[in-house]
Amino acid sequence: MAGILSNLRSTIIVSLILAVLMYALYYVLSGSEYSGAAVTIAFLRWLHVISGVMWIGLLWYFNFVQIPNMAKIPDDQKPAIGKVIAPAALFWFRWGAAATLLTGLALAGHRGYLVETLTIGAMDGFANVQHVFLGLGMWMGIIMAFNVWVIIWPNQKIALGLIDAPAEAKPAAARKAMLFSRTNTLLSLPMLVAMAGSQTLFG
Ligand code: HEM
Repeated sequence: MAGILSNLRSTIIVSLILAVLMYALYYVLSGSEYSGAAVTIAFLRWLHVISGVMWIGLLWYFNFVQIPNMAKIPDDQKPAIGKVIAPAALFWFRWGAAATLLTGLALAGHRGYLVETLTIGAMDGFANVQHVFLGLGMWMGIIMAFNVWVIIWPNQKIALGLIDAPAEAKPAAARKAMLFSRTNTLLSLPMLVAMAGSQTLFG
């Protein structure tokens, strides 16, 4: 067991096997009520939520842990964060954002309300309040994913010296990335009210 836990890859493989067993458990427990269509939706939601946890978890890591503590780290030790931890965190952060967006749009498409939610209910004269509510949350998420790929990541590449840029451009790029990361933190809580609540409140 310690052998498995010492290695992230083996740990994730075992975690995936247990996840598949949970679906098998549903198969056994549901008996004649088994629904393949429900499994497809549940699986898409699972993909969406694990991607979202990866993304927003790292967003909150940056905002709750890394940024507030950077000033306490002596200058000669700062490269450990800037050159090692931040680039690794940004890798999972930006691909988590892309996966969350794609699985979210796929979910809306699969459930047959992609256009309705993207137009925030306007398509049906705002008659379906769930489309309005979820659509607002989806737009917050879309803006957040846009911020990650179009503003935060390009500016972080300059700030962290991952691409060639004049040294004097770094502080402004770091500040811009920080402010948009903060904007995403601001949007994260209301966005999650729509994500986690629309099904229960209006489903
Ligand atoms: C990036 C843009 C996003 C889009 C387009 C999007 C889209 C959606 C859609 C369409 C649903 C409804 C699924 C259904 O009714 O079956 C949903 C649910 C959900 N989303 Fe998102 N989402 C986004 C971001 C996020 C983020 C960042 C998180 C963070 C974890 C998240 C977490 C959730 C959760 C927990 C649910 C509830 C699933 C359920 O009730 O079963 N979403 N999302």
